[in-house]
Amino acid sequence: MTQRKTPEELRSHRWYGSNDMRQFGHHSRTAQMGYSRADYLGKPIIAIINTWSDINACHSHFRQRAEEVKRGVLQAGGFPLEMPAIALAEVFQKPTTMLYRNLLAMETEELLRSYPVDGAVLMGGCDKTTPALLMGAISMNLPAIFMPAGPMLRGHWRDQTLGSGSDVWKYWAEKRAGNITDKQWLEIEDGIARSPGHCMTMGTASTMTSAAEALGFTLPGAASIPAADSRHGRMAAETGRRIVEMVWEDLKPRDFLTSKSVDNAITTVLALGGSTNAVVHLVAVARRAGVALALDRFDALSRNTPLIANIRPAGKYLMEDFFYAGGLRALLSEIDDLLDLDARTVNGRTLGENVAGAEVFNRDVILERDKALVGSGSLAVLRGNLAPDGAVIKPAAAEERLLKHTGPAVVFSDYNDMAARIDDPTLDVTPDSVLVLQNAGPLGAPGMPEWGQLPIPKKILAQGVRDMLRISDARMSGTSYGACVLHVAPESFVGGPLAFVRDGDLIELDVEKRSLQLKVDDADLARRRASWKKPAPRFERGYGALYQQHITQADQGCDFDFLEGTAPTAEPEIH
Ligand code: FES
Repeated sequence: MTQRKTPEELRSHRWYGSNDMRQFGHHSRTAQMGYSRADYLGKPIIAIINTWSDINACHSHFRQRAEEVKRGVLQAGGFPLEMPAIALAEVFQKPTTMLYRNLLAMETEELLRSYPVDGAVLMGGCDKTTPALLMGAISMNLPAIFMPAGPMLRGHWRDQTLGSGSDVWKYWAEKRAGNITDKQWLEIEDGIARSPGHCMTMGTASTMTSAAEALGFTLPGAASIPAADSRHGRMAAETGRRIVEMVWEDLKPRDFLTSKSVDNAITTVLALGGSTNAVVHLVAVARRAGVALALDRFDALSRNTPLIANIRPAGKYLMEDFFYAGGLRALLSEIDDLLDLDARTVNGRTLGENVAGAEVFNRDVILERDKALVGSGSLAVLRGNLAPDGAVIKPAAAEERLLKHTGPAVVFSDYNDMAARIDDPTLDVTPDSVLVLQNAGPLGAPGMPEWGQLPIPKKILAQGVRDMLRISDARMSGTSYGACVLHVAPESFVGGPLAFVRDGDLIELDVEKRSLQLKVDDADLARRRASWKKPAPRFERGYGALYQQHITQADQGCDFDFLEGTAPTAEPEIH
C-alpha cells in the first residue's frame, strides 16, 4: 500500500481533528452512537451510499451486503458509516426513474460533500442507480468505488428459462395474440424473478454495471457475479477493504476517468449488445468528468465492435450463464485489441492487468469474433430533418427488412393517445406504417420514459407481424427489441421536427446511410412550425419545476445544466 496521506490530511480531520466547541458536538454525538475515539479517530471514514429500500426488489440483499462492506472497511482500518439514498426502483417509480436519476446524483454529491467523509462505496445496480451514483461521485471527486448489485438468477417457466423484461414483452405479445392463457401468464409471473439482484438480461442494469467496471469503477469481475452467489458477498467485503486503501492513496474518480476509459465503456456496451440507455447515461457520466462525448463516438466505435455476448434480448442466454462462461473479464479479453488497456482502475492496476489471463469457458455464451451475433454496427446514430441533433437505433434488435424502409406515419400525440387508439380496429394502419409517438421526451413525458417500443396494433399482430418501424423521443428498455428509433433530438415538446409529423406523411429510414427523413418539403414544414403552439410546462412547483428548468436534451445526456462539467464542489465551512 502506498500511503500518501497522513491521518491529519484526511478530509474528516476537519470535523474531528481539534477540540473546540463544535468538534465537541461531533465527538459526543459519535460517542452517542456507541463509538469511542479509538474506533474512528485518524481513520478513513467511509460512506456506504446504500440505495436499499423495501420498494426496490433488485436491491433486497443490500442490507446484508452493506454489513459485508462494513466488515471489509473495518478489517482494513477504516470507519464505515452507512448512508441511505433514494432507491430508484425501476418497476415501481412513476412516470419513470429517469425523472429522478439526477436527484440521486445530487443526493450522492451532497451527502459526500456535507458529511465527514473520506471515501465512498456506492451500492447500486437497478437501472438508473448506477449512472446516478457515478455522476454524483465524479462531481464530488472523493475516492469512490462502485459495488454492483449483481444480476438475479435465471427465471423459469415449465421447461423454459425466462429473462426479465425481454420475455415479458415476448409472452405479452403472445397473450394479446391469444396464444397464452391467463393461467399460463400467472405461472410466468410466478417464476420470472426468483432471487435478489437486478434484471438478468442485458438490460440497462447489466449494461451499466458492466460499463462501470469497464470505466474502472469496480473491482475486476464484480459486475458479472449473480447477487445470490456467495462470491458476491465476498466481493462486497473486498470492496470495503479496497476503498480504505484508495483513501490513503488518494485515488479519485477523475484520476482514472478519461476519454480512453469512456471509450472502453462504450466498446464494452457494444460488445455486450447493451441497452440504448447507455448512450444517454455515458454522455452524462463523461461530461461530469469533463470528457466531451458526442453521439457520433458511439456510431464510430460501433462500426468496429463485434457483438459477442449471446445474451437476451439480442441473444439466447442470461447473465448467470455469462458469469459461468467467464463473465466480463473473459469478454474483455476477447476484444482487448479494441480497448485502451493502460486505462487505470480503482484497484490501482490497469484494465489490461485486470483482464489478463481471463478465460472463456463456454463458447456458445461468449462467442468467438468470427461468430459474432453482429459483426459491426450493433448501434447506429441517425440524423436527418426529423432528428437534427440525432437519434439512435439498435439494428441488431430489429427485423432486417425494416432497416431500409419508407412508410406512412400513424401519429400519436402522447402516450395516453397511443394507449387509447393503438388497438382500435378502425385505426388506419398496415404493417408498412410508421408508428410515431410525440411528447415522450425528457420534458414532454416528462422524464423520457421507456415508451419507445410502441406496441404493435392488435390487428397487425393477428396478421403474424411482430415488428414495425416505430419512432419517438422516448427511451426503450434495454430488455426490449424491435425497429425502434429512439431519443429523437430535439424532442417534440420543445418544437423539434417530430412535433410536426402528421398522419400519412412519408418517413424514410436508411440505417446504412444513418439517415432519418420526413418526406415533407421545407416550406410545408415551416408552415407547420409557425402554427405550432408551445405546450404548457408540466410542473408548477417542486422537484419537477427544477427539472424542467434545467434538464438537457437526450444527445447531451439529460443532465441538469448546472451539474455538468468539473467546476469544484465547494467544501462546507466547518463551524
Ligand atoms: Fe431493477 Fe430491472 S427492475 S434492474
